[in-house]
Amino acid sequence: MPQHIKRLIGAFAAVLILFLIMQLVLRPSSFGKIGHFRADAIPENKMKPIRYAGSDKCTECHEDMATDKAVGFHSVLQCEVCHGPGLKHAKYANKFKDGELPDSLKLHKPDERRECAICHQLNAARIKIVFDTINNSMLKQIDALKHNPVDKRTNEKLKCIDCHNPHQP
Ligand code: HEC
Ligand code: HEC
Ligand code: HEC
Ligand code: HEC
Repeated sequence: MPQHIKRLIGAFAAVLILFLIMQLVLRPSSFGKIGHFRADAIPENKMKPIRYAGSDKCTECHEDMATDKAVGFHSVLQCEVCHGPGLKHAKYANKFKDGELPDSLKLHKPDERRECAICHQLNAARIKIVFDTINNSMLKQIDALKHNPVDKRTNEKLKCIDCHNPHQP
């Protein structure tokens, strides 16, 4: 066998041995117990605090918004997609029913143009109308620069929600 082939086999063998040693040292102990993944990932994820309440929970106190949304184009969206995780809010908001919510219980209201554009901005990398077969919906995209009405009095860009009701766009 020529010398250079012998060296090559030697080099491959060295890399293979190094790989096996590293695998022994670095592989997490629970890997492969129940599948090709780290079994500890399951209890670790279970220990994470729950943060979302689910839209049904929101409906219990905000029936008007839920009724609006149910018949509009946004019926496919969950409340918390826009408002963020709301479990704490759903648990404790009623204590402040007749007053102002403390900041820690307030939910985000996505009223800025860029926040609607996260889903609706026309993107050359996407087809113009994305058909979502899971939700059976058409996500229409606009060019937020052209779809760009200006308030004539102040010359400022209008917010999307000046014209569109976010719950029933
Ligand atoms: C137990 C009743 C209750 C539940 C459940 C509940 N809310 Fe509320 N929510 C309130 C009260 C009370 C207020 C404050 C008064 C108001 O604006 O009606 C409020 C206010 C809000 C506001 C306005 C906050 C602000 O800063 O002005 C938003 C947005 C909101 N809720 C969204 C949600 C969403 C999304 C859910 C589901 C995750 C939800 N709520 C579940 C009672 C509830
Ligand atoms: C597309 C995003 C979107 C979704 C989905 C959505 N909201 Fe909203 N919501 C908004 C925006 C934007 C505002 C602020 C409206 C404004 O300031 O006029 C708002 C305001 C609110 C408010 C406060 C109203 C007020 O008068 O201050 C409540 C309560 C609320 N939403 C509840 C809900 C509930 C309950 C759901 C689910 C049934 C839901 N929202 C789904 C975007 C959304
Ligand atoms: C999480 C993604 C998401 C966000 C954020 C979102 N939308 Fe939508 N929107 C959708 C989807 C999905 C549909 C289409 C549902 C269908 O046709 O079944 C839709 C439909 C619409 C339509 C109807 C278009 C038509 O078919 O004529 C308008 C208008 C609209 N949204 C405006 C807004 C505005 C204004 C905001 C910001 C307050 C917003 N959207 C935020 C996902 C989103
Ligand atoms: C001055 C009022 C006004 C403002 C501000 C406005 N829109 Fe519209 N929008 C309309 C009207 C009217 C239509 C329906 C006519 C049309 O299809 O052009 C529409 C249509 C749409 C559609 C459906 C487009 C389609 O192909 O059928 C989407 C999605 C939409 N708007 C999202 C938005 C978003 C996101 C913003 C903020 C970046 C926004 N709009 C700001 C008035 C407005």
